[in-house]
Amino acid sequence: MVPRADRFLAGQFRKKGPRAMTLIKWSARHRIGVKALDEQHATFAAILNEFHAAMLQGEGKGAADALLPRLASYVRQHLQAEEAMMEAAQYPELMQHRELHREFAHELEAFAARHDKGDDGVYVELLRFLYSAHYTHALEADREYGSWLGQHGSCEKVFSRT
Ligand SMILES: [Fe+2]
Ligand SMILES: [Fe+2]
Repeated sequence: MVPRADRFLAGQFRKKGPRAMTLIKWSARHRIGVKALDEQHATFAAILNEFHAAMLQGEGKGAADALLPRLASYVRQHLQAEEAMMEAAQYPELMQHRELHREFAHELEAFAARHDKGDDGVYVELLRFLYSAHYTHALEADREYGSWLGQHGSCEKVFSRT
């Protein structure tokens, strides 16, 4: 968990109603420069915002019922799409990146299992985990292969972040 994520989330949970902000405001600075994948990352951010909004209303469990299957399906498709692009572009760090994906998918499955068992303490931890993944994986680790694809991938899939 990155410290700034902890601080930000702590502030978010103290706010109520209109003072509560959108968790992730999607903007150009969130792009890694690969159109299809940026759209998928924006979907991930939207799912997080939905989950966060439900948590602020005290409806984490109901939201998790609906969002966890969507999230599992999103994660499966997104990670496959990323890995296929990295493979096609012969990204040299593919194995390490694939391992990060495996760890992420494994942790997400563990959260889903806790939810299935009725563990009410899982929701704040799950939100923290997903929020952290957005910043440390989607915006940092993914950006590294984004730059590689910009130079070695097919150009029509790549656009400028600015
Ligand atoms: Fe990603
Ligand atoms: Fe990734």
